[in-house]
Amino acid sequence: MQMITYDTHEIFTHVLTPEGAQIAKDGSHEARVWAALPARGQGTPVTPLQLKKAVGDETAKVGQGRAFKNGWISKEGDGLVKATDTIQDQTKEDLQEVASTGTLKAGEKVLADLRKRKLVIQKKGQWFTVHKGPQFSTSTAKPETDLTADMLVSGSWKTSTFKKYNFDAEGTPTSGGALHPLLKVREEIRNIFLEMGFAEMPTSSFVESGFWCFDALFVPQQHPARDLQDTFYLSDPKESLPPNPEYYKRVATTHEHGGYGSVGYRAPWSHEESSKLLLRTHTTASSAHMLYKLAARCRGETPEGDSKEFTHGAASTTETGQPSEDDGFRPAKLFSIDRVFRNETMDATHLAEFHQVEGVVADRNLTLADLIGSFNVMGHLQATQRLPGFMRVFFSKMGIERVRFKPAYNPYTEPSLEIFAFHPLLDRWVEVGNSGMFRPEMLEPMGFPKDVRVHGWGLSLERPTMIRYGINNIRTLVGHKTSIEGIENSPAVMF
Ligand code: PHE
Repeated sequence: MQMITYDTHEIFTHVLTPEGAQIAKDGSHEARVWAALPARGQGTPVTPLQLKKAVGDETAKVGQGRAFKNGWISKEGDGLVKATDTIQDQTKEDLQEVASTGTLKAGEKVLADLRKRKLVIQKKGQWFTVHKGPQFSTSTAKPETDLTADMLVSGSWKTSTFKKYNFDAEGTPTSGGALHPLLKVREEIRNIFLEMGFAEMPTSSFVESGFWCFDALFVPQQHPARDLQDTFYLSDPKESLPPNPEYYKRVATTHEHGGYGSVGYRAPWSHEESSKLLLRTHTTASSAHMLYKLAARCRGETPEGDSKEFTHGAASTTETGQPSEDDGFRPAKLFSIDRVFRNETMDATHLAEFHQVEGVVADRNLTLADLIGSFNVMGHLQATQRLPGFMRVFFSKMGIERVRFKPAYNPYTEPSLEIFAFHPLLDRWVEVGNSGMFRPEMLEPMGFPKDVRVHGWGLSLERPTMIRYGINNIRTLVGHKTSIEGIENSPAVMF
């Protein structure tokens, strides 16, 4: 800005050392020696030993030599006496002058001698002269930061001062949208499925009927999951549109009387229960829709547009590799990641809504080994013969290498398996999901041939996200207590 200019000046002064200060106060060593002696002929001469005792070793040693040189003292017998009546202690006077003025009139030669005797030291100081600069002003006018149209019109730009650009300044952070951690993890999991050749199922209908959420899956109509305590039902509209009447009839009959090798539940079928509208409690409702569409060709129907893109279109072959008679079946690997709703008591790990990750694989003659890996079942297999199974591949892509399966019960799968993963930080096995092979009572009424098996597994999106981000209360992740800033600053996730 050049408001002011200034000149720098150097200045040298002298200050006393501790020894110098002592002399300025009590006199020089030689003066102290002189003062300790009797005048000639007026008392007993002082021996060197006595002198040492009187003035101290150092003063006696240094002082004697200088006092002799100055002609202040002389010898008498074995002792010392004063040689003059008065003395002028020049050193003491010089040091007093240095102490009060910082310099000495006597000049540099004497000062140099005092420095050599380590009685004074030189000090460097600085001072400044300040002058008005080219931009000097007594008022502070703010420099312009922008050249405006007004300034151009009025011509004031000619006399204005402009602020210089600061190219090193860090700009203000721009605000923009940010992905929620759940969406970041969803994207990672979606990529894992896509890498494994899975296609994403449409899951946009949050509202389902009892038929698709439960009946089609062969969940008994009296199952506790259907209770008001576990499921949110819609009051308006109350009833769903009817499903395909033939399929509906097959499902109802299988429940009530059995079929396809099953004895059924042998309980009266309730149309009311089946047509209730509800918020889907699992994405398996959407999987049921997709599987039903997938079986269209097997039922002799033309598949609806969107289900074609989900099949792998492979021509059917028998186990020996011979083309079989086309029964319409096409294998499929499907997945979905979307929201589900449960009427649960909310706590640190449960909300009334969460996201499910679901994988479904349909093919002929699949075995449990295709789902969980063969070395889990037959530990003696050679490493090269071991099949990892879909779930092991899936979880290992998520960074989870150690998985275990525990037999469980699920109304729509047999066998059913709970999935446990080893959590290295918690140092224990934690439940991460649920899986199984869909029951023939579910698949055959849809029209699937008998040799078609369908695997499924499901897990929540929230749990791996909470583990990933070290969050232990779901309410800090989802809901009104979530911090927007926390979401904006949440790092990207990579498995
Ligand atoms: N729907 C199951 C659940 O809600 C998960 C699952 C999907 C289980 C598919 C088996 C097969 O936990």
